[in-house]
Amino acid sequence: MALHGTSPKIYLFQKSNAFSVLKTYFHILFGRSNLVRLALKMRLKDRKTIEKQGNLPLINLHKSLEVIRNQSLEKYPHYDYGAGYNYQSFSELNLSGFRATETRVSALDLNDVLSGKTVLDIGSNMGSVLFNVRESIKYGLGVEINEFLVEQSQLIAKHLKVNNKLEFQSIPFEQVSKTQHEFDAILSLANHSTFDGNTKQSLDSYFHKIHNLLTDDGILIFESHPPELEPADSLQKTINLMADYFLTTKVDVQGLDGFLDKNRTYFFCKKKNEQI
Ligand SMILES: C[S@@+](CC[C@H](N)C(=O)[O-])C[C@H]1O[C@@H](n2cnc3c(N)ncnc32)[C@H](O)[C@@H]1O
Repeated sequence: MALHGTSPKIYLFQKSNAFSVLKTYFHILFGRSNLVRLALKMRLKDRKTIEKQGNLPLINLHKSLEVIRNQSLEKYPHYDYGAGYNYQSFSELNLSGFRATETRVSALDLNDVLSGKTVLDIGSNMGSVLFNVRESIKYGLGVEINEFLVEQSQLIAKHLKVNNKLEFQSIPFEQVSKTQHEFDAILSLANHSTFDGNTKQSLDSYFHKIHNLLTDDGILIFESHPPELEPADSLQKTINLMADYFLTTKVDVQGLDGFLDKNRTYFFCKKKNEQI
């Protein structure tokens, strides 16, 4: 069996899965990519927990999510942030991921900061940030270019019975228009540029668009990429551009020590309302 750097297609939630479990261990032992191996370990751990709980609707949800993920491995040609599983965790549903969503939401105090607001999440991935603040916000829209991630978000929204309050659209942020929506808060979490090459607009257009989509007293919440991907000089250029449109306040964030969470830079930004 040839091993590639990408994730194998594995079904752990089908009826007879002994072969799949063996295949998973084989790829964990001999796989070439550390991320894929980590993702497979997380999948085994989550499956074990869920099976122990015996919660049928949750098992069925995982089964459906797995089918979508495997379709994505076949059909989505761009970078896979979750290496075959999840980039974002969503602990409530036993979904592990490379980014600790709950810790991030609590470190940024998002339930409080976003309370009662209409929120746009740019590049919402699996939707975990919006799911974690669903009780406190007024309305949330996640836009995500990867239709397979959006399909997963929509299934989760249905499972949680929040599809009246949270919407997920498979469109690039470039296509969101002010005529459709205006937001009290916009989340730009590791999305001002993207590793997959799917962000087509310039940084200036990006911040200009966010400015335009916000209400007059709207806020932007900004997260950088990790320093290995976004060196200090390049981040400073981004911050300078952002400051053309916003009053920026750096946030001291504690407790984010996961391998993809640590050392990022965060800003809470207020919209400048003078002529831009
Ligand atoms: C680095 S991940 C960040 C995900 C999420 N914001 C978070 O912080 O957990 C970037 C995400 O943006 C999506 N993406 C890339 N280009 C996009 C675009 N032009 N419009 C919307 N989503 C995009 C990717 O598919 C991916 O899910």
